[in-house]
Amino acid sequence: MNSKLTLLDLNVAHKRVLVRVDFNVPINEQGDVVDDTRIAEALPTIRYLLEQHAKVILMAHLGRPKRGVDGTKEIPSKYSLAPVAKHLEKLLGSPVHFSPESIGPVAEQAVSVMQEGTVLLLENVRFHQEEEANDPTFAKALAALGDLYVNDAFGAAHRAHASTAGITAYLPQSAMGLLMQKEIQYLQGELKNPEHPFLVILGGSKVSDKIGVIKALMEKADTFLIGGAMAYTFLKATGIETALSRVEADKIDLAKDLLEEARRRSIRFLLPTDCIVTQSIQASVPTKNVTLSTTAGIPEDWEGVDIGLETRLIYAREIAQAKTILWNGPVGIFEIPDFAGGTRSLAEAVAANRSALSIIGGGDSVTAVKQFGLASLMSFISTGGGASLELIEGKELPGIVALTSC
Ligand code: 3PG
Repeated sequence: MNSKLTLLDLNVAHKRVLVRVDFNVPINEQGDVVDDTRIAEALPTIRYLLEQHAKVILMAHLGRPKRGVDGTKEIPSKYSLAPVAKHLEKLLGSPVHFSPESIGPVAEQAVSVMQEGTVLLLENVRFHQEEEANDPTFAKALAALGDLYVNDAFGAAHRAHASTAGITAYLPQSAMGLLMQKEIQYLQGELKNPEHPFLVILGGSKVSDKIGVIKALMEKADTFLIGGAMAYTFLKATGIETALSRVEADKIDLAKDLLEEARRRSIRFLLPTDCIVTQSIQASVPTKNVTLSTTAGIPEDWEGVDIGLETRLIYAREIAQAKTILWNGPVGIFEIPDFAGGTRSLAEAVAANRSALSIIGGGDSVTAVKQFGLASLMSFISTGGGASLELIEGKELPGIVALTSC
């Protein structure tokens, strides 16, 4: 993947540069961008292009709008990128023009009146079903708007769509943007030969989402700390009573195999020794801290929602000794303050270890770290969700594969 052209390899001056960005950001009902990290992270590439007197044409998606089977259903305005154009304008401090169409005469006209050193954002490419189908005609219509292509949408690089992959067939040169380069450097480069002890914190809801990542990381990691709902499938696999906790019944055997594999390779694979349980997943309800053992598990009618107090101490001790830390997935339902204590204590422990390289591998763990105000204390925070997992797993990402080799 390192043999691909990068932004600095391109001669962009006076050119129309099509830049795929990941502006798939949360927007509230008032039309305000609630978390602008992905927009802010695209600024270095946009600014560089503006300094080089390029015409910057941004392509992005927002959500997963569907037109229905016959393709005629109206797409709700909540999927429009218009509010993102306004937000980008504020961050950039210079005008951002918006085209209400991503291809065709409207978009072509918007591009034709662009001055050098200006930015145009095209409407959500997913308003056309052809985008996700990686339709060649649609990809060609997008490509017709520019002279060169830059992919800076790391979060969407695992999608083989028209604007992330197909488009490169119709442009002479396609390069990765500065954000894409940084993501690859941390999630692939830094994890190739990590400094040991290499500790992996894995949470989130499903073991099934993390199988590939666990297997790939077993090649390198010294210790795994398991939390989140996925921990209950592992706990069940060790014979512990999990009562109403979320368990993937069809993944218990797989969890057993993974535990056995870790044992065989002498990898420390730590499961919670206690957890916070509740009878209802909502704020301000009674909770208990229960010890987890084969003789005393989670009581009937209760479910686990966070790692317990003892587990937090054990995990924090491990974190303090690590030299490389990779974290993906919260260890409790942190969106509800009563169940956020475990995730917060681990985030604090990671932030406190100043001698480790700490990589937050995307998704909800990023949201959690930001919510606790600890983001600036991490070495790197990925803008990708699924894309980060796939890159860590060692998969080739279509949005990178499609770029021009050098
Ligand atoms: C993300 O939010 O993970 C990316 O923008 C990709 O979005 P998608 O899962 O809808 O393709």
